[in-house]
Amino acid sequence: MSEHKDEVLLKVNKVYQPPKRVLEKAHITAEEFDRMYEESIKDPENFWANLAEKELHWFKKWDKVREWEFPNYKWFIGGKLNITYNCLDRHVQNGKRNKVAYIYTNEDNEEIKITYGELLELVNRIANGLKSLGVKKGDRVVIYMPLVIEQLATMLACARIGAIHSVVYAGFSANALRMRIEDAQAKVIVTSTWTKRRGKKIDLKSVVDEAVDGLDFVENIVVLQRKGDEFELEEKEIDFYDLIKDQSSVCEPEIMDAEDPLFILYTSGSTGKPKGVLHTTGGYNLYTHVTTKYVFDIHEDDIFWCTADPGWITGHSYMVYGPLSVGVTSVIAEGAPDYPDPGRWWSIVEKYRVNIFYTAPTAIRLFMKYGEEWPKKYDLSSLRILGSVGEPINPEAWIWYYEVIGNSQCSIVDTWWQTETGGHMITTVPAYPQKPGKAGKPFWGIEADVVDREGYTEEPNKVGYLIIKQPWPSALRTCWGEPERFEKYWTEIDHYYFAGDLATKDEDGYIMILGRADDVINVSGHRIGTAEVESALVSHPAVAEAAVIGKPHDVKGESIKAFVILKQGHEPSENLIKDLKMHVRHELGSLAVPDEIEFVEKLPKTRSGKIMRRVLKARELGMPLGDISTLED
Ligand code: WT7
Repeated sequence: MSEHKDEVLLKVNKVYQPPKRVLEKAHITAEEFDRMYEESIKDPENFWANLAEKELHWFKKWDKVREWEFPNYKWFIGGKLNITYNCLDRHVQNGKRNKVAYIYTNEDNEEIKITYGELLELVNRIANGLKSLGVKKGDRVVIYMPLVIEQLATMLACARIGAIHSVVYAGFSANALRMRIEDAQAKVIVTSTWTKRRGKKIDLKSVVDEAVDGLDFVENIVVLQRKGDEFELEEKEIDFYDLIKDQSSVCEPEIMDAEDPLFILYTSGSTGKPKGVLHTTGGYNLYTHVTTKYVFDIHEDDIFWCTADPGWITGHSYMVYGPLSVGVTSVIAEGAPDYPDPGRWWSIVEKYRVNIFYTAPTAIRLFMKYGEEWPKKYDLSSLRILGSVGEPINPEAWIWYYEVIGNSQCSIVDTWWQTETGGHMITTVPAYPQKPGKAGKPFWGIEADVVDREGYTEEPNKVGYLIIKQPWPSALRTCWGEPERFEKYWTEIDHYYFAGDLATKDEDGYIMILGRADDVINVSGHRIGTAEVESALVSHPAVAEAAVIGKPHDVKGESIKAFVILKQGHEPSENLIKDLKMHVRHELGSLAVPDEIEFVEKLPKTRSGKIMRRVLKARELGMPLGDISTLED
């Protein structure tokens, strides 16, 4: 046992050099990466202007690269483009009409392939369909769909005509969906009848029905009916294919200003209400393009598979906009990773000869539990780059990923970033020496540091706050309807962008992310605000007060535990626990349901009445309570 431990320790402290086969193919060497990094920090405007010219098509060139009037910033001012032109038209015109854009598969092993040419035509027909419903530039469209080609094409169709999409993950509840529809005042909702997970149909349409009930500003609901559906459409509802079948497959791209909004995506913060992170067109297109190309080292003939869902930022940037702008072929897979059996994902890698695979540590830990016999059944030798995202990857999982999935022949690229950052911020590019558990170094143009509350750099290896010193092209531009929440990112710590994470930086400049510094929990790579779960609990008639913490969990990273004070006349019981869990599921969705609920008489509070979750957590984990001088009693 102790020997085994020593072995693990040796591996953890080892620096892994990139495999020869990765180096031979890589667009850039470690030295080139460093040189480019220096240039990007010395003269960011010139650096990004060069890349913008080289990598993207512009209808009109910008007049000025960056404007920064604290806390607001703009990129490529006066530049005109359309992101779908960069993702589709230019490839079709440059000989890639018949190149496959997406290979779709699902739990029943069905397969659909769509080429760049076909995708462009589908997008245009949806775009014309949306126009026929009166959707115009700047209007909001909410997309609540499973992971199917039509989902991705609908996002692109919005971008084609300049409508702002707001994708809501199809696991969110009716209430969560309603809040997002209302907040964005969406004119049209695009949805589907159901999705399938673990062989079970999950009804989506009824969730939409409940969410839009009484919302008069919603003018139409477009419904993608799936195989076998027999469905009666109600008032305001239109069948997806009926809407597009007579539409022209030509739709001129809307000429967008670089700073015109592209999409809103909601994410949890430290209050009960999620924030609508707003991204714009030019900087986002450029940054996701460049990170896709260099962080994943994508080449023309590569097959890329990002296992995320388009409901999250990872899906926006690395299933849709980044890979299409670069012009690669992507795999997309609807359904659970381990159904019908734990070999499903590896069978997909084998079947489609996937070269670049991008997933989350929670999935890696799940497969570690199933054991290496599952991946060993398949030929995974096509893999070259293995990506990780969403939460810190523990060294054990990193090494398993490297050895078992990568056969010690792949580079691991851990990518730290956020909904707000739009693209990868801290990572170890494939040609760079890798350290298990450390995300790596800032990407081009990103001046990252680990600092104290006042903004002073911490000593090497000391825990501090992760900050970014200057705006980068794909930084969020505002929070929809709440500019004061946007400003907080740049005013909490000096004049830096405060990410909300704790981190350390070692002597070589490698950054290790330790987790959130605020009241946000990371469950299976998904951000959940403790305040959101608490307010869901308190809205139950039996609950007087609630406090929520995250607890370490060996697969999910963190799990949710709730402490609940009942109102007079209510007694703790197993049934009540079940009922409270159901209630949270209904209010927020299944991701936010606590694993544990404990009934208590009192909660630790400050004298001003704020719940001290820190104290609850320390007590739960048997750790020192820390400074409790502000505790009420
Ligand atoms: C938070 C952002 C970025 C897409 C998925 C999540 C955590 C994300 C890593 C990583 C350590 C990570 C951070 C961050 N996180 N990637 N590679 N290592 N932590 O996007 O929902 O906006 O959450 O996820 O805590 O702040 P998100």
